[in-house]
Amino acid sequence: MIINPLVGKQVESFRLADARLNLWDGSVRSSKTIISLLKWIEFVRTAPAGPLLMVGKTERTLRRNIIDPLVEMLGEQRCRYVAGTGELFLLGRKIYVVGANDERAQEKIRGLSLVGAYCDEVSTLPESFFVMLLTRLSIPGARLFGTTNPDGPQHWLKVGYLDRAALHLDIHGQLHRSDNPDALNLHRFSFQLADNPNLSPDYVAAVSSEFTGLWHRRLILGEWCLAEGVVYESWDPARHVVAELPAIARWICLSLDYGTTNPFHALLLGVGVDGRLYVGHEWRWDSKKQRGSLTDAEYSERLRAWVTDLGIRPEYTIVDPSAASFRVQLHRDGQTSTLADNEVVDGIRQVASLFATGRLLVHAECRELIREIPAYAWDPDASEKGEDKPIKVADHGVDALRYGVRTTRAIWEPMLREPVLLAA
Ligand SMILES: Nc1ncnc2c1ncn2[C@@H]1O[C@H](COP(=O)(O)OP(=O)(O)OP(=O)(O)O)[C@@H](O)[C@H]1O
Ligand SMILES: [Mg+2]
Repeated sequence: MIINPLVGKQVESFRLADARLNLWDGSVRSSKTIISLLKWIEFVRTAPAGPLLMVGKTERTLRRNIIDPLVEMLGEQRCRYVAGTGELFLLGRKIYVVGANDERAQEKIRGLSLVGAYCDEVSTLPESFFVMLLTRLSIPGARLFGTTNPDGPQHWLKVGYLDRAALHLDIHGQLHRSDNPDALNLHRFSFQLADNPNLSPDYVAAVSSEFTGLWHRRLILGEWCLAEGVVYESWDPARHVVAELPAIARWICLSLDYGTTNPFHALLLGVGVDGRLYVGHEWRWDSKKQRGSLTDAEYSERLRAWVTDLGIRPEYTIVDPSAASFRVQLHRDGQTSTLADNEVVDGIRQVASLFATGRLLVHAECRELIREIPAYAWDPDASEKGEDKPIKVADHGVDALRYGVRTTRAIWEPMLREPVLLAA
Protein backbone atom coordinates (compact mmCIF):
# COMPACT_ATOMS: atom_id res chain seq x y z
CA MET A 1 0.00 0.00 0.00
CA ILE A 2 1.30 3.40 -0.94
CA ILE A 3 0.78 6.09 1.65
CA ASN A 4 0.37 9.46 0.03
CA PRO A 5 1.82 12.52 1.74
CA LEU A 6 -0.36 13.76 4.57
CA VAL A 7 -2.13 17.07 4.18
CA GLY A 8 -4.04 19.57 6.31
CA LYS A 9 -5.69 18.14 9.39
CA GLN A 10 -3.87 14.85 8.85
CA VAL A 11 -0.48 16.52 9.33
CA GLU A 12 -1.67 18.65 12.20
CA SER A 13 -3.22 15.77 14.13
CA PHE A 14 -0.12 13.67 13.58
CA ARG A 15 1.98 16.46 15.07
CA LEU A 16 -0.37 17.17 17.97
CA ALA A 17 -1.01 13.57 19.05
CA ASP A 18 1.40 13.71 21.98
CA ALA A 19 -1.03 13.60 24.91
CA ARG A 20 -1.62 10.70 27.23
CA LEU A 21 -4.87 10.02 25.31
CA ASN A 22 -5.18 10.80 21.61
CA LEU A 23 -8.52 10.28 19.91
CA TRP A 24 -9.63 10.78 16.31
CA ASP A 25 -13.40 11.02 15.84
CA GLY A 26 -15.62 11.76 12.87
CA SER A 27 -16.91 10.60 9.50
CA VAL A 28 -16.37 7.22 7.98
CA ARG A 29 -13.44 6.92 5.54
CA SER A 30 -11.99 10.21 6.67
CA SER A 31 -8.50 8.70 7.28
CA LYS A 32 -8.70 8.46 11.08
CA THR A 33 -7.37 4.91 11.05
CA ILE A 34 -4.48 5.57 8.69
CA ILE A 35 -3.26 8.67 10.52
CA SER A 36 -3.64 7.11 13.97
CA LEU A 37 -1.83 3.97 12.81
CA LEU A 38 1.05 6.04 11.43
CA LYS A 39 1.25 7.69 14.83
CA TRP A 40 1.04 4.33 16.57
CA ILE A 41 3.92 2.98 14.45
CA GLU A 42 6.00 6.00 15.43
CA PHE A 43 5.10 5.47 19.08
CA VAL A 44 5.88 1.73 19.03
CA ARG A 45 9.28 2.49 17.50
CA THR A 46 10.24 4.93 20.24
CA ALA A 47 8.12 3.94 23.26
CA PRO A 48 9.65 3.11 26.65
CA ALA A 49 10.01 -0.61 27.36
CA GLY A 50 6.85 -2.36 28.46
CA PRO A 51 3.82 -4.22 27.18
CA LEU A 52 1.68 -2.87 24.35
CA LEU A 53 -1.92 -3.65 23.50
CA MET A 54 -4.25 -3.32 20.54
CA VAL A 55 -8.00 -3.51 21.14
CA GLY A 56 -11.08 -3.80 18.97
CA LYS A 57 -14.64 -4.88 19.45
CA THR A 58 -13.80 -8.39 18.31
CA GLU A 59 -10.55 -9.89 17.18
CA ARG A 60 -12.13 -10.32 13.74
CA THR A 61 -12.97 -6.62 13.29
CA LEU A 62 -9.58 -5.65 14.65
CA ARG A 63 -7.94 -7.85 12.10
CA ARG A 64 -9.93 -6.40 9.22
CA ASN A 65 -9.76 -2.74 10.31
CA ILE A 66 -6.28 -2.53 11.75
CA ILE A 67 -3.99 -5.49 11.40
CA ASP A 68 -4.50 -6.07 7.68
CA PRO A 69 -3.82 -2.37 6.90
CA LEU A 70 -0.74 -2.44 9.17
CA VAL A 71 0.65 -5.47 7.35
CA GLU A 72 -0.08 -3.74 4.04
CA MET A 73 1.66 -0.59 5.19
CA LEU A 74 4.75 -2.24 6.63
CA GLY A 75 5.06 -5.63 4.92
CA GLU A 76 5.15 -9.08 6.53
CA GLN A 77 8.77 -8.57 7.57
CA ARG A 78 8.00 -5.74 9.94
CA CYS A 79 4.48 -6.69 10.93
CA ARG A 80 3.46 -10.26 11.61
CA TYR A 81 0.29 -11.47 13.29
CA VAL A 82 0.10 -14.82 15.07
CA ALA A 83 -3.64 -15.44 15.27
CA GLY A 84 -3.38 -18.49 17.54
CA THR A 85 -1.75 -16.62 20.40
CA GLY A 86 -3.32 -13.23 19.67
CA GLU A 87 0.09 -11.59 19.34
CA LEU A 88 1.28 -9.10 16.82
CA PHE A 89 4.97 -8.46 16.18
CA LEU A 90 5.39 -4.89 15.04
CA LEU A 91 8.88 -3.58 14.31
CA GLY A 92 10.27 -6.29 16.56
CA ARG A 93 7.97 -5.51 19.50
CA LYS A 94 5.33 -7.88 20.74
CA ILE A 95 1.81 -6.45 21.01
CA TYR A 96 -1.15 -8.19 22.66
CA VAL A 97 -4.32 -8.15 20.59
CA VAL A 98 -7.68 -8.44 22.35
CA GLY A 99 -11.35 -8.18 21.47
CA ALA A 100 -13.49 -6.34 24.01
CA ASN A 101 -17.10 -6.91 23.13
CA ASP A 102 -18.65 -7.48 26.51
CA GLU A 103 -18.47 -6.50 30.14
CA ARG A 104 -16.24 -9.48 30.94
CA ALA A 105 -13.56 -8.25 28.54
CA GLN A 106 -11.88 -6.19 31.25
CA GLU A 107 -10.76 -9.46 32.87
CA LYS A 108 -8.40 -9.91 29.94
CA ILE A 109 -6.33 -6.87 30.91
CA ARG A 110 -6.68 -6.89 34.68
CA GLY A 111 -3.24 -6.90 36.29
CA LEU A 112 -1.30 -5.74 33.22
CA SER A 113 0.95 -2.67 33.30
CA LEU A 114 0.95 -1.16 29.86
CA VAL A 115 3.05 1.43 28.12
CA GLY A 116 0.80 1.85 25.11
CA ALA A 117 -2.58 0.96 23.68
CA TYR A 118 -4.31 1.34 20.35
CA CYS A 119 -8.13 1.17 20.26
CA ASP A 120 -10.23 0.65 17.16
CA GLU A 121 -13.79 2.09 17.22
CA VAL A 122 -13.59 3.18 20.86
CA SER A 123 -17.31 4.01 21.18
CA THR A 124 -18.18 0.35 20.60
CA LEU A 125 -16.09 -0.86 23.56
CA PRO A 126 -17.71 -1.33 26.96
CA GLU A 127 -17.06 1.69 29.17
CA SER A 128 -15.88 -0.64 31.94
CA PHE A 129 -13.17 -1.92 29.63
CA PHE A 130 -12.00 1.56 28.70
CA VAL A 131 -11.86 2.64 32.33
CA MET A 132 -9.85 -0.45 33.22
CA LEU A 133 -7.56 0.15 30.26
CA LEU A 134 -6.75 3.68 31.47
CA THR A 135 -5.77 2.35 34.90
CA ARG A 136 -3.50 -0.18 33.16
CA LEU A 137 -1.58 2.51 31.28
CA SER A 138 0.59 3.00 34.32
CA ILE A 139 4.14 3.07 32.99
CA PRO A 140 5.57 6.61 32.78
CA GLY A 141 5.20 7.91 29.23
CA ALA A 142 2.26 5.58 28.56
CA ARG A 143 -0.06 6.65 25.73
CA LEU A 144 -3.31 5.67 24.13
CA PHE A 145 -4.29 6.20 20.51
CA GLY A 146 -7.77 5.49 19.21
CA THR A 147 -10.43 6.21 16.63
CA THR A 148 -14.19 6.35 16.77
CA ASN A 149 -17.23 7.24 14.72
CA PRO A 150 -19.75 9.52 16.44
CA ASP A 151 -22.62 8.12 18.48
CA GLY A 152 -25.21 9.96 20.60
CA PRO A 153 -24.31 13.18 22.46
CA GLN A 154 -24.79 11.43 25.82
CA HIS A 155 -22.48 8.54 24.97
CA TRP A 156 -19.98 7.80 27.77
CA LEU A 157 -17.03 8.49 25.48
CA LYS A 158 -18.37 11.89 24.44
CA VAL A 159 -19.41 13.13 27.88
CA GLY A 160 -16.66 11.54 29.95
CA TYR A 161 -13.72 12.07 27.63
CA LEU A 162 -14.04 13.88 24.30
CA ASP A 163 -15.88 16.86 25.83
CA ARG A 164 -13.09 17.20 28.39
CA ALA A 165 -10.16 17.24 25.95
CA ALA A 166 -7.34 19.65 26.76
CA LEU A 167 -6.92 20.24 23.04
CA HIS A 168 -9.46 19.91 20.24
CA LEU A 169 -8.86 20.23 16.53
CA ASP A 170 -12.49 20.60 15.45
CA ILE A 171 -14.40 19.65 12.31
CA HIS A 172 -13.62 23.04 10.75
CA GLY A 173 -9.92 22.75 11.49
CA GLN A 174 -10.04 25.26 14.37
CA LEU A 175 -7.77 24.48 17.30
CA HIS A 176 -9.21 24.91 20.79
CA ARG A 177 -7.25 24.62 24.02
CA SER A 178 -9.28 24.16 27.17
CA ASP A 179 -8.60 26.26 30.25
CA ASN A 180 -10.99 24.13 32.27
CA PRO A 181 -9.21 22.72 35.37
CA ASP A 182 -11.12 19.47 34.76
CA ALA A 183 -9.62 19.04 31.30
CA LEU A 184 -8.09 15.64 30.64
CA ASN A 185 -4.65 15.02 29.19
CA LEU A 186 -6.45 14.21 25.96
CA HIS A 187 -6.07 15.54 22.44
CA ARG A 188 -9.06 15.19 20.16
CA PHE A 189 -9.10 15.42 16.38
CA SER A 190 -12.45 15.64 14.56
CA PHE A 191 -12.38 14.54 10.94
CA GLN A 192 -14.74 14.80 8.00
CA LEU A 193 -14.65 13.10 4.61
CA ALA A 194 -13.14 16.24 3.12
CA ASP A 195 -10.07 15.75 5.32
CA ASN A 196 -9.15 12.69 3.27
CA PRO A 197 -8.03 13.71 -0.23
CA ASN A 198 -7.42 10.07 -1.16
CA LEU A 199 -11.06 9.41 -2.00
CA SER A 200 -12.48 10.04 -5.45
CA PRO A 201 -15.51 12.36 -5.69
CA ASP A 202 -17.55 9.41 -7.01
CA TYR A 203 -16.65 7.35 -4.00
CA VAL A 204 -17.53 10.18 -1.64
CA ALA A 205 -20.90 10.61 -3.38
CA ALA A 206 -21.61 6.88 -3.19
CA VAL A 207 -20.70 6.61 0.49
CA SER A 208 -22.70 9.72 1.31
CA SER A 209 -25.81 8.33 -0.35
CA GLU A 210 -25.69 5.09 1.59
CA PHE A 211 -26.16 6.77 4.92
CA THR A 212 -29.40 8.49 5.61
CA GLY A 213 -30.98 10.45 8.46
CA LEU A 214 -29.29 9.76 11.76
CA TRP A 215 -26.38 7.98 10.11
CA HIS A 216 -25.88 10.73 7.59
CA ARG A 217 -25.49 13.24 10.41
CA ARG A 218 -23.20 10.96 12.39
CA LEU A 219 -21.19 9.02 9.83
CA ILE A 220 -20.99 11.56 7.02
CA LEU A 221 -21.19 14.91 8.79
CA GLY A 222 -19.40 13.60 11.89
CA GLU A 223 -21.91 14.97 14.43
CA TRP A 224 -22.53 13.37 17.84
CA CYS A 225 -26.27 13.83 17.44
CA LEU A 226 -29.35 12.52 19.13
CA ALA A 227 -31.42 9.73 17.63
CA GLU A 228 -34.73 11.56 17.32
CA GLY A 229 -37.74 11.73 15.06
CA VAL A 230 -38.70 9.07 12.56
CA VAL A 231 -36.34 6.17 12.01
CA TYR A 232 -36.76 5.75 8.25
CA GLU A 233 -36.40 9.36 7.12
CA SER A 234 -36.04 8.60 3.45
CA TRP A 235 -39.24 6.50 3.34
CA ASP A 236 -41.50 7.83 0.62
CA PRO A 237 -44.47 5.71 -0.44
CA ALA A 238 -44.32 7.27 -3.89
CA ARG A 239 -40.87 5.81 -4.36
CA HIS A 240 -40.86 2.75 -2.16
CA VAL A 241 -44.27 1.18 -2.69
CA VAL A 242 -44.85 -0.78 -5.90
CA ALA A 243 -48.24 -1.80 -7.21
CA GLU A 244 -46.79 -4.87 -8.88
CA LEU A 245 -43.87 -7.13 -8.11
CA PRO A 246 -41.30 -7.83 -10.79
CA ALA A 247 -40.19 -11.42 -11.40
CA ILE A 248 -38.42 -12.54 -8.24
CA ALA A 249 -35.08 -14.24 -8.85
CA ARG A 250 -34.88 -15.73 -5.36
CA TRP A 251 -37.32 -15.75 -2.49
CA ILE A 252 -34.75 -15.36 0.24
CA CYS A 253 -36.73 -15.61 3.40
CA LEU A 254 -39.87 -15.73 5.38
CA SER A 255 -39.17 -13.58 8.41
CA LEU A 256 -41.45 -13.09 11.33
CA ASP A 257 -42.08 -11.23 14.51
CA TYR A 258 -43.98 -13.50 16.85
CA GLY A 259 -46.78 -12.29 19.09
CA THR A 260 -49.71 -13.72 21.00
CA THR A 261 -51.29 -10.71 22.69
CA ASN A 262 -49.33 -8.49 20.28
CA PRO A 263 -49.74 -9.01 16.55
CA PHE A 264 -47.88 -11.78 14.78
CA HIS A 265 -46.34 -10.40 11.59
CA ALA A 266 -44.66 -12.36 8.81
CA LEU A 267 -43.04 -11.08 5.61
CA LEU A 268 -41.68 -12.67 2.47
CA LEU A 269 -38.49 -11.10 1.12
CA GLY A 270 -37.07 -11.72 -2.31
CA VAL A 271 -34.56 -10.27 -4.74
CA GLY A 272 -36.12 -9.12 -8.00
CA VAL A 273 -34.55 -9.66 -11.42
CA ASP A 274 -33.96 -5.89 -11.35
CA GLY A 275 -31.43 -6.28 -8.50
CA ARG A 276 -33.64 -4.85 -5.80
CA LEU A 277 -34.87 -6.36 -2.58
CA TYR A 278 -38.65 -6.67 -2.31
CA VAL A 279 -41.03 -7.22 0.55
CA GLY A 280 -43.47 -9.23 -1.51
CA HIS A 281 -46.19 -10.31 0.87
CA GLU A 282 -47.26 -10.02 4.47
CA TRP A 283 -49.31 -12.17 6.80
CA ARG A 284 -50.52 -10.75 10.05
CA TRP A 285 -52.63 -12.01 12.91
CA ASP A 286 -53.76 -9.49 15.47
CA SER A 287 -55.57 -11.31 18.26
CA LYS A 288 -57.16 -8.06 19.42
CA LYS A 289 -58.69 -7.26 16.05
CA GLN A 290 -59.23 -10.72 14.65
CA ARG A 291 -61.04 -13.71 15.98
CA GLY A 292 -59.06 -14.31 19.17
CA SER A 293 -55.65 -15.78 19.80
CA LEU A 294 -54.04 -18.70 18.05
CA THR A 295 -51.91 -21.45 19.56
CA ASP A 296 -48.38 -22.05 18.27
CA ALA A 297 -49.64 -25.08 16.38
CA GLU A 298 -52.33 -22.99 14.67
CA TYR A 299 -49.87 -20.22 13.82
CA SER A 300 -47.52 -22.75 12.29
CA GLU A 301 -50.26 -24.35 10.24
CA ARG A 302 -51.73 -21.10 8.94
CA LEU A 303 -48.37 -19.57 8.18
CA ARG A 304 -47.21 -22.59 6.21
CA ALA A 305 -50.52 -22.78 4.38
CA TRP A 306 -50.22 -19.09 3.45
CA VAL A 307 -46.75 -19.57 1.97
CA THR A 308 -47.78 -22.74 0.14
CA ASP A 309 -50.85 -21.05 -1.34
CA LEU A 310 -48.65 -18.28 -2.70
CA GLY A 311 -46.57 -20.97 -4.40
CA ILE A 312 -43.41 -19.64 -2.77
CA ARG A 313 -40.63 -21.64 -1.17
CA PRO A 314 -38.46 -19.20 0.79
CA GLU A 315 -34.89 -20.34 1.33
CA TYR A 316 -34.87 -19.43 5.01
CA THR A 317 -37.35 -18.95 7.79
CA ILE A 318 -36.11 -16.27 10.15
CA VAL A 319 -37.75 -16.22 13.56
CA ASP A 320 -37.49 -13.50 16.14
CA PRO A 321 -35.20 -14.41 19.04
CA SER A 322 -37.89 -14.21 21.69
CA ALA A 323 -40.02 -16.91 20.04
CA ALA A 324 -38.28 -20.06 21.25
CA SER A 325 -41.53 -21.97 21.69
CA PHE A 326 -42.65 -21.17 18.18
CA ARG A 327 -39.38 -22.40 16.72
CA VAL A 328 -39.93 -25.69 18.51
CA GLN A 329 -43.40 -25.89 16.97
CA LEU A 330 -42.06 -25.19 13.49
CA HIS A 331 -39.42 -27.84 13.99
CA ARG A 332 -42.07 -30.32 15.07
CA ASP A 333 -43.93 -29.50 11.86
CA GLY A 334 -40.85 -30.24 9.78
CA GLN A 335 -39.87 -26.59 9.17
CA THR A 336 -36.31 -25.64 10.06
CA SER A 337 -35.82 -22.04 11.09
CA THR A 338 -33.00 -19.60 11.73
CA LEU A 339 -32.71 -17.37 14.78
CA ALA A 340 -32.92 -13.72 13.76
CA ASP A 341 -29.92 -11.44 14.23
CA ASN A 342 -31.25 -8.93 16.75
CA GLU A 343 -28.58 -6.20 16.62
CA VAL A 344 -31.27 -3.52 16.58
CA VAL A 345 -29.35 -0.43 15.49
CA ASP A 346 -27.23 -2.29 12.94
CA GLY A 347 -30.37 -3.84 11.47
CA ILE A 348 -32.15 -0.50 11.26
CA ARG A 349 -29.13 1.11 9.64
CA GLN A 350 -29.06 -1.57 6.99
CA VAL A 351 -32.77 -1.17 6.20
CA ALA A 352 -32.39 2.65 6.19
CA SER A 353 -29.48 2.44 3.79
CA LEU A 354 -31.45 0.19 1.43
CA PHE A 355 -34.40 2.60 1.45
CA ALA A 356 -32.10 5.57 0.90
CA THR A 357 -30.45 3.97 -2.10
CA GLY A 358 -33.72 2.82 -3.65
CA ARG A 359 -32.82 -0.83 -3.27
CA LEU A 360 -35.61 -2.00 -0.97
CA LEU A 361 -39.20 -1.74 -2.15
CA VAL A 362 -42.49 -2.87 -0.66
CA HIS A 363 -45.40 -4.44 -2.48
CA ALA A 364 -48.57 -2.40 -2.02
CA GLU A 365 -50.45 -5.34 -0.55
CA CYS A 366 -48.24 -5.19 2.61
CA ARG A 367 -50.62 -2.64 4.09
CA GLU A 368 -49.78 -3.03 7.75
CA LEU A 369 -46.04 -2.77 7.16
CA ILE A 370 -46.61 0.32 5.01
CA ARG A 371 -48.63 1.77 7.85
CA GLU A 372 -45.94 1.11 10.45
CA ILE A 373 -42.85 2.36 8.59
CA PRO A 374 -43.52 6.14 8.63
CA ALA A 375 -44.60 6.05 12.29
CA TYR A 376 -41.55 4.14 13.50
CA ALA A 377 -39.63 6.60 15.70
CA TRP A 378 -36.64 6.88 18.00
CA ASP A 379 -37.30 6.84 21.72
CA PRO A 380 -36.39 10.31 23.07
CA ASP A 381 -36.10 9.06 26.68
CA ALA A 382 -33.58 6.41 25.69
CA SER A 383 -31.63 8.94 23.58
CA GLU A 384 -31.29 11.25 26.56
CA LYS A 385 -29.64 8.38 28.42
CA GLY A 386 -27.16 7.83 25.63
CA GLU A 387 -28.88 4.81 24.14
CA ASP A 388 -30.29 4.54 20.62
CA LYS A 389 -33.50 2.59 20.41
CA PRO A 390 -36.86 2.90 18.72
CA ILE A 391 -40.12 3.27 20.61
CA LYS A 392 -41.63 -0.14 21.10
CA VAL A 393 -45.02 0.57 19.63
CA ALA A 394 -46.51 -0.66 16.35
CA ASP A 395 -43.16 -2.22 15.50
CA HIS A 396 -44.17 -5.73 14.45
CA GLY A 397 -43.86 -5.44 10.71
CA VAL A 398 -40.78 -3.23 10.94
CA ASP A 399 -39.15 -5.73 13.31
CA ALA A 400 -39.88 -8.61 10.95
CA LEU A 401 -38.36 -6.51 8.15
CA ARG A 402 -35.22 -5.75 10.15
CA TYR A 403 -34.77 -9.42 11.12
CA GLY A 404 -35.13 -10.62 7.57
CA VAL A 405 -32.85 -7.99 6.03
CA ARG A 406 -30.12 -8.19 8.64
CA THR A 407 -29.99 -11.95 9.01
CA THR A 408 -29.81 -12.72 5.28
CA ARG A 409 -27.49 -9.88 4.22
CA ALA A 410 -24.76 -12.25 3.02
CA ILE A 411 -27.22 -13.60 0.44
CA TRP A 412 -28.79 -10.44 -0.96
CA GLU A 413 -25.78 -8.15 -0.78
CA PRO A 414 -23.95 -9.57 -3.81
CA MET A 415 -27.21 -9.74 -5.78
CA LEU A 416 -28.20 -6.08 -5.51
CA ARG A 417 -27.51 -3.45 -8.11
CA GLU A 418 -25.32 -0.44 -7.38
CA PRO A 419 -26.87 2.22 -5.15
CA VAL A 420 -28.87 4.83 -6.99
CA LEU A 421 -27.55 8.26 -6.12
CA LEU A 422 -30.19 10.60 -4.81
CA ALA A 423 -30.09 14.32 -4.39
CA ALA A 424 -29.38 15.19 -0.77
N1 LIG B 1 -2.28 9.08 3.26
C1 LIG B 1 -3.00 8.16 2.61
N2 LIG B 1 -2.51 7.54 1.52
C2 LIG B 1 -3.25 6.62 0.85
N3 LIG B 1 -4.47 6.26 1.20
C3 LIG B 1 -5.02 6.82 2.28
C4 LIG B 1 -4.33 7.81 3.05
N4 LIG B 1 -5.11 8.20 4.06
C5 LIG B 1 -6.25 7.50 3.92
N5 LIG B 1 -6.21 6.68 2.86
C6 LIG B 1 -7.27 5.76 2.42
O1 LIG B 1 -8.55 6.32 2.70
C7 LIG B 1 -9.46 5.30 3.13
C8 LIG B 1 -10.10 5.68 4.42
O2 LIG B 1 -9.13 5.82 5.44
P1 LIG B 1 -9.33 5.21 6.90
O3 LIG B 1 -9.66 3.78 6.83
O4 LIG B 1 -8.14 5.61 7.68
O5 LIG B 1 -10.60 6.03 7.35
P2 LIG B 1 -11.37 6.02 8.74
O6 LIG B 1 -11.61 7.43 9.09
O7 LIG B 1 -10.67 5.17 9.73
O8 LIG B 1 -12.74 5.37 8.30
P3 LIG B 1 -13.80 4.47 9.15
O9 LIG B 1 -14.55 5.41 10.05
O10 LIG B 1 -14.67 3.96 8.04
O11 LIG B 1 -13.03 3.43 9.88
C9 LIG B 1 -8.66 4.01 3.22
O12 LIG B 1 -8.95 3.23 2.09
C10 LIG B 1 -7.24 4.47 3.22
O13 LIG B 1 -6.41 3.51 2.66
MG1 LIG C 1 -11.27 3.42 10.79
